[in-house]
Amino acid sequence: MSDEARFLRPDVIIEPLVDRFYAWLHTVSPVQAAMNLAFVQVPLLESYLQSPQVHINASANPQMRGGLFVNVEGDRSGEVRDLLASIKHDRAEMLNFAAAIAEAEDLVRQSATGFDLTPLYPKLPPILSGLVEIAYDTSNQPAIRYIEPLAYESGVYTEDRQSVQLSLETGIERPFILSTPRLSSPDAVDLHIPFRHPGLEELVRSRVHGTTLSRLREMLSLRDDETAALSRLLAPEPDLAADRHIDGGARLRYFGHACLVLQTPEAAIITDPWVSSDASATDRFTYRDLPDHIDLALITHGHQDHIVLETLLALRGRIGKVVVPRSSRGSLADPSPALYLSHLGLPVTEVDDFSEVEFPGGKVIATPFLGEHADLDIRAKTTYCVRFAGRTVFVGADSSGIDPGLYRYMRNHVGQVDMAFLGMECAGAPLTWLYGALLTQPVTKKMSDSRTLSGSNAEQAAGIMTELGATEAYVYAMGEETWLVGHVMATSYNADSYQLKQVDQFMAWCADHGIKSDHLFGQHEWRW
Ligand SMILES: [Fe+2]
Ligand SMILES: [Fe+2]
Repeated sequence: MSDEARFLRPDVIIEPLVDRFYAWLHTVSPVQAAMNLAFVQVPLLESYLQSPQVHINASANPQMRGGLFVNVEGDRSGEVRDLLASIKHDRAEMLNFAAAIAEAEDLVRQSATGFDLTPLYPKLPPILSGLVEIAYDTSNQPAIRYIEPLAYESGVYTEDRQSVQLSLETGIERPFILSTPRLSSPDAVDLHIPFRHPGLEELVRSRVHGTTLSRLREMLSLRDDETAALSRLLAPEPDLAADRHIDGGARLRYFGHACLVLQTPEAAIITDPWVSSDASATDRFTYRDLPDHIDLALITHGHQDHIVLETLLALRGRIGKVVVPRSSRGSLADPSPALYLSHLGLPVTEVDDFSEVEFPGGKVIATPFLGEHADLDIRAKTTYCVRFAGRTVFVGADSSGIDPGLYRYMRNHVGQVDMAFLGMECAGAPLTWLYGALLTQPVTKKMSDSRTLSGSNAEQAAGIMTELGATEAYVYAMGEETWLVGHVMATSYNADSYQLKQVDQFMAWCADHGIKSDHLFGQHEWRW
């Protein structure tokens, strides 16, 4: 039995976890993970343990959606207590590292006043030794640079934190990833393996290529009960859509949120990969619909709804290269996506503004990304122009039209754009929602609320279209497919939502200007 071919079912969810919290760029990259653990996750668990009912009530209140509340029933609070105790014990080095960052940032703020910085080094907390440099910019503003590749080699980065939780899609929205740790469940299989484990790649590749239970058992060192549980996630036949490849022409498919799949018979590209596991649904594309091999996965930026580790890990062994934007190297706010993904076993290529990446029959040009990061100096963000099958597609993600002049330069450099995909989540979350753990000086609520993670509004989107000269506009990346993104973005819209009204206004502007437009939701397909 255990040597017969087996295929991973399309409705299997594999959640990557660190200390049982959902893994994303800021909870895995060592410097930022230490800060998030010390200043968000530990205080969150402590707050829950003081008054579980407050968290449970808030989690059930739609008005509080997206708030940091632990959604764990009171009768399981003992497990939360155990998790907190193990974090405090096992991750003491990370917690010390975070405290040292706070101390060092304070020291630099107080003592780096324009004079020689050499005397500051002996005053830094010893745990930072060898991992930082202090420097002024040309207006005498001091900053600490974290030598990020070495942070991965220090005791602050430990794969011991990593595990994956496997379960079957139920259609019920999962708990919010930024707030609720995943406890064990009789319906889920927990594998305490690092994300780069070859056995995990063997498992996910078996969606297409098949494997055997005995091979998985050996590679993953499974016990009998784990082997039995895993076997329920496997099927004797692959479950793949017959039309997942094309014979001629070109196809572009919208898979939901910011995920597009561009195909010709010779190549496939996916943007901000995020794919539904709900194989029974007929109103969306799922893992069944993906081509067997994807040449390039284009990542636009580090927000948790664009660099979705769950989907990237599910595609390990099927992606030629993951293309990621280069970070500013060592800033607290700007962890490197390339270091992150390469440590997790993914093949990575870094791009900067106007870098080019070729693929069979086409070319990707990385183009600048403006704003949408609460005015933090974050460089790990890019848009893309993809030239293939006679068309140029602009993948705009959440880049905003703060200054449409950029898009005039882009058009000069790249040439005619045919289809523009624009993110219009134009009333985004405030600064502290995603970056609170990384701020080493308090900000007022007023300040935080004034700095948001917002894409283009109607006027800005119109400015982009005018300057790009594109003939088709598609609004996407709005977080509207709650069945896909609810647990990650915690978005909630109604007919009166500012964002949706702005989309309508933009589409009316497009109609007035002879531009074909659509507001994408669920699934969509173009052929030429
Ligand atoms: Fe974003
Ligand atoms: Fe987004």
